[in-house]
Amino acid sequence: MILIILALSKVRQLEEVNLKFSYKKIDNSEHLAKEDRDLLEIAERASKNAYAPYSRFHVGAAVRLDNGFVIEGNNQENIAYPSGLCAERVAIFSASAQYPNAEIEAIAIYASSTEFKVENPVTPCGACRQVLAEYELKQKRSIKLLLSGQTEQIFEIESASILLPLLFNENGLKNS
Ligand code: THU
Repeated sequence: MILIILALSKVRQLEEVNLKFSYKKIDNSEHLAKEDRDLLEIAERASKNAYAPYSRFHVGAAVRLDNGFVIEGNNQENIAYPSGLCAERVAIFSASAQYPNAEIEAIAIYASSTEFKVENPVTPCGACRQVLAEYELKQKRSIKLLLSGQTEQIFEIESASILLPLLFNENGLKNS
């Protein structure tokens, strides 16, 4: 009897984790609050200053801070390809460098190409998701994402970290 109980207690438990992901598809920027519409316009404007001679994919980002400032960024490429940086990180690092104590409310992203029409809203790459998620953890407040391309459609995502479940965090650096 005791042996059976011991054997049963060693049966591995399997826990399945299901995550829910949802976001809003908005068919026109008129359905947005004015401050979000303005932020997308600034992102579009910022994309015009991208340095993207290799991809010809021009991305603009605009970060709105709780102190009222909006910080712009755009992708900066380099002939040594990995040395370049995405628009999101240019904007968000610049915001943090200038206003380290301000909270980031939202980031708007826009993309266009000289080679084709960007039909779908641009979604941030994995590295940018990691960076955005860490600023959320730092400020203990979610960052709203407003994503757009060369159509009227907009994706609105309430929090950056839901785009990166099980992200690498400081616990990964601790000895257990
Ligand atoms: N890029 C961004 O700036 N943001 C994104 O969300 C996706 C990709 C840039 C990197 C590179 O300069 C070009 O777009 C093509 O990948």
